Amino acid sequence: MRRDALAVLGCTACAGALVTDTDAAELDDGTVRCVACATHYPVRGGVLDLLGAPRPATAAHWVNELRLTAWAYERTWRPHALSILSGEPFGEARESALLTAALADAPAGAFVDLACSSGRYARVLAGMAPQRTVIGIDCSAAMLAEAQRRARSARLPISYVRADALALPLQPAAAAAVVMGGSLNEIADVPGALAAMARSAAPGAAFFLMTLLVARSTAGRLLQHMMRPGGLHFFDDATLVAQIDHAGFDITDHRVHRSVALISGRRRAASNTGA
Ligand SMILES: C[S@@+](CC[C@H](N)C(=O)[O-])C[C@H]1O[C@@H](n2cnc3c(N)ncnc32)[C@H](O)[C@@H]1O
Ligand SMILES: [Zn+2]
Repeated sequence: MRRDALAVLGCTACAGALVTDTDAAELDDGTVRCVACATHYPVRGGVLDLLGAPRPATAAHWVNELRLTAWAYERTWRPHALSILSGEPFGEARESALLTAALADAPAGAFVDLACSSGRYARVLAGMAPQRTVIGIDCSAAMLAEAQRRARSARLPISYVRADALALPLQPAAAAAVVMGGSLNEIADVPGALAAMARSAAPGAAFFLMTLLVARSTAGRLLQHMMRPGGLHFFDDATLVAQIDHAGFDITDHRVHRSVALISGRRRAASNTGA
């Protein structure tokens, strides 16, 4: 991770500022310390770990902790996922174009990819804005190790942090963009996750969400129902839109391709938040 990302982050125990004793721009192995409560957090293989021992709550979380899953994710499923789920050609370039368009006029500040897995969106963000602080957050150590490896080989300055999307270790209003690709379906507390995104986003910050809706076909709905015990859940579009609005984001672009929703927006200013 990059030392400059610490200015945007906060202690998970007390929200205090995080510092490190090294002057190096890149932290590979070592510790980061909270100036307020003195909690120390390890940096291993370039990834800052604010969570400690893994405590997967669902089957989906267990699967994400496996190194094989992290290795296979972008080599197998991810490049084809949107085409399979939308039933039309929807390659990574098409998805990336929507993501970059959503962030095109974001205000100054950090770009954050939430529940980033191996950093698919984080790499797009760092590629489009190499001068910005770009942070990727996920709770899976295996996914973050793969993300770090991919960022290094692409020479992209991304800071990866192991943390919970429901308790984001970000300073309030520090993010100029908050994005999440496909992960809301794994997070049980959707209003909580959207509220955490809104707290971290500056007024006018860009918002981008790719997520899966309830399938239209009976067979699709049956399949989704069978995935529920594993920790995956799927959304009604109107309910999701209302939740995003309630969290404090204005939706500026909303596309639905079969069960895939891609939603762009802006964080409302505090006086007009409604949240
Ligand atoms: C479908 S994958 C994400 C895909 C990735 N964003 C992309 O666009 O390819 C879901 C990810 O969410 C992460 N995740 C699930 N719940 C989380 C939570 N509460 N906090 C942080 N990460 C979480 C998992 O570890 C997993 O890596
Ligand atoms: Zn602290």
